Amino acid sequence: MTDQQAQGRHELGPVLVVIPTYNERENLGPIVARLHAALPQAHALVVDDGSPDGTGALADEMAEADERVHVLHRTEKAGLGAAYIAGFHWALARDYDVVVEMDADGSHAPEDLPRLLAALREADLVLGSRYVPGGKVVNWPKHREWLSRGGNIYSKIALGAKLNDITGGFRAYRREPLERIKLDSVASQGYCFQIDLAWRTIEAGFRVTEVPITFTERVIGESKMSGNIVREALLRVTKWGLRRRRDQLLALLAPRREPANRA
Ligand code: GDD
Ligand code: MN
Repeated sequence: MTDQQAQGRHELGPVLVVIPTYNERENLGPIVARLHAALPQAHALVVDDGSPDGTGALADEMAEADERVHVLHRTEKAGLGAAYIAGFHWALARDYDVVVEMDADGSHAPEDLPRLLAALREADLVLGSRYVPGGKVVNWPKHREWLSRGGNIYSKIALGAKLNDITGGFRAYRREPLERIKLDSVASQGYCFQIDLAWRTIEAGFRVTEVPITFTERVIGESKMSGNIVREALLRVTKWGLRRRRDQLLALLAPRREPANRA
């Protein structure tokens, strides 16, 4: 066993890229083709929530033609979080060592994946980050960028996590944190799911790092972002933040109480 293996930093095994889809018929073919040009060995799992535009049927055709493509059909639109959880269970039931999250709409460049995976050699979760030096956002309306930046600043303050893009949805996990986290207890449905999982991964003591990416707003189709999704994130992050402060306070008080009890 080499030193690297002894520290758990073994070579990375099979990679599964989970791609959630809701009405992405025109985007799906090109994004999977780009993925396989960048990472020929990687498998893709399309998690479709019964898209009315026929994305699921197209995914089936692609899976038929290419053994690297798999499809998970769900019956109704249940949010990004639920789609990813289903995809993670699917991955963990098979022998994938790395599980990637990537949008179908072209906002995340598959060409960045080799860099994310390289960073994963020294980490358990790698976040593609728009808000570190070298990262950027292209073609986003100003209000959307400020919402995203604001969400990150708020999460940083509330959770004390030293991450610059904890809301981002382009990331690579080793299977270990996904095995450790109780996936079925994750209730976050919208994009707050991203904060939730990164936070749980940190809390469980895993190594989380960020690498710069360029996020380019989609050209075809629409974002599924909504007021409810933002409200869910705000409420949950506030709740987790308050719980964290309470725990810190209790930890601070506990050792002082002990001697008093003994006396
Ligand atoms: N299966 C399924 N079910 N897929 C969904 C659902 C759903 O309910 N909602 C969205 N998706 C898919 C979309 O089809 C797309 O492939 C991907 O999830 C991202 O959805 P978008 O609606 O394009 O997200 P966005 O561009 O507004 O937000 C992106 O940036 C956020 C951070 O700023 C995503 O990457 C978010 O995860 C990220 O938090
Ligand atoms: Mn998008």
